[in-house]
Amino acid sequence: MTKVIKGGTIVTADLTYEADVKIDGDKIIEIGPDLSGDEVIDATGCYIMPGGIDPHTHLEMPFMGTYSTDDFASGTRAALAGGTTMVVDFCLPSPGESLLDSLKVWDNKSAQAACDYSYHMAITWWGEQVFDEMKIITEEKGINTFKHFLAYKGALMVNDDELYSSFKRCAELGATPLVHAENGDVIAELTAQLLAEGNTGPEAHAYSRPTQVEGEATNRAIMIADMAGAPLYVVHTSCEEAHEAIRRAKMQGKRVWGEPLVQHLVLDDSEYSNEDWDHAARRVMSPPFRNKQHQDSLWAGLASGSLSCVATDHCAFTTEQKRFGVGDFSKIPNGTGGLEDRLPVLWTKGVNTGRITMNEFVAVTSTNIAKILNCYPQKGAVLVGSDADLVVWDPKANKTITADTQASAIDYNVFEGIEVTGLPRYVLSRGYVAVDNGTLKAKEGHGKFVARDANGSVNTALSKWKDLTAPRPVERSGIPATGV
Ligand code: URP
Ligand code: ZN
Ligand code: ZN
Ligand code: ZN
Repeated sequence: MTKVIKGGTIVTADLTYEADVKIDGDKIIEIGPDLSGDEVIDATGCYIMPGGIDPHTHLEMPFMGTYSTDDFASGTRAALAGGTTMVVDFCLPSPGESLLDSLKVWDNKSAQAACDYSYHMAITWWGEQVFDEMKIITEEKGINTFKHFLAYKGALMVNDDELYSSFKRCAELGATPLVHAENGDVIAELTAQLLAEGNTGPEAHAYSRPTQVEGEATNRAIMIADMAGAPLYVVHTSCEEAHEAIRRAKMQGKRVWGEPLVQHLVLDDSEYSNEDWDHAARRVMSPPFRNKQHQDSLWAGLASGSLSCVATDHCAFTTEQKRFGVGDFSKIPNGTGGLEDRLPVLWTKGVNTGRITMNEFVAVTSTNIAKILNCYPQKGAVLVGSDADLVVWDPKANKTITADTQASAIDYNVFEGIEVTGLPRYVLSRGYVAVDNGTLKAKEGHGKFVARDANGSVNTALSKWKDLTAPRPVERSGIPATGV
């Protein structure tokens, strides 16, 4: 049974052209004019793009005494509803726990996935077992990215010596480290001080994590990655200080990527001044939303290429869960949703305003991510042989975002009331029509794990350069006798 997407315009990271796309089973088998097949999908007036890849989600994440409410079932339904056909979730061992044991836990959760998925492995502690297991994870388990938290002191945070050891191990294994860059020590001090002074509301979450703590940690992580000879992927880059560090590193030839979230691009810190406690608490995430100047910086980074990907960090807690923090902002579970809204919101606020082009949109929501994570062109491409993860995008379709109609399992939406123009008409997940003329038909369990090899081209090039420029002893013909 073949399918043909007919009458549309293909938009990739580098080209825009009219052609049909023929699919057999899981794969794209032909691209060209006037194709025919057993089933026709009408793309008249639409763009055909690679399905979105969200490189940063936390589905059913154990965090701050609870679990994020969207699991792999509801989370991947939400993803597909919004045109995202692959998510990369974080496998999160507790401090002291085996990485391999934690992977089994994530494999159980992800059995429900309706779209394809992959994992980053978090390094939440350091020891010989972690050092050894990192090799198995990269060489046998198809995970080539390791996440490190510089925030969440006393829980997930690692110190600089641990960070250096892990980054060094990533470099040896041809893997890429990721970092949540905020200075956890300073945040802990500011949090205690704010609470002692009676600053207990959700707005104090933002006061406790100013842009300076993100800028410092980003610079530090970049320096440590450079010393360890590893590339670096900085997650949820939210401010100019962090962007400036990434931009500078790139201009120095360092292999560093930055990932703004759609929330940080569109929502600002005035949300925390809302008089409604629930409204503000629902928007508590780390890093917090920033002001308009920081948003301009992030948009400029996407347009110029100094920032590479747009993610959601989807970590959705219900209002009831958020209320754990009534009277103490530090107990509000950190995280917001956005999986379903990332593409329509970015298209509306980015492409429709002229801040980014359609091709840049595809690059930052899909292709760049697949390349950095080393699953291109299986994912992130409209090419013969690629997985048929595709979105037929109707640039004229519109709706007003509301929690009432969302696929996510939580009871609100941080983008509530935003009018979007540009929505998926069809979404294909490896050839399966998961959104059919606007109707969600996600199939639980359809998603497959996407294995990603280590030693991508950037890792290999960087290690070659680091070897070539490593300190070496100076060869000397005569060495003076030791002074006895
Ligand atoms: O607030 C956030 N971002 N929650 C999810 C965990 C993380 O730090 O990414
Ligand atoms: Zn984080
Ligand atoms: Zn995260
Ligand atoms: Zn299937």
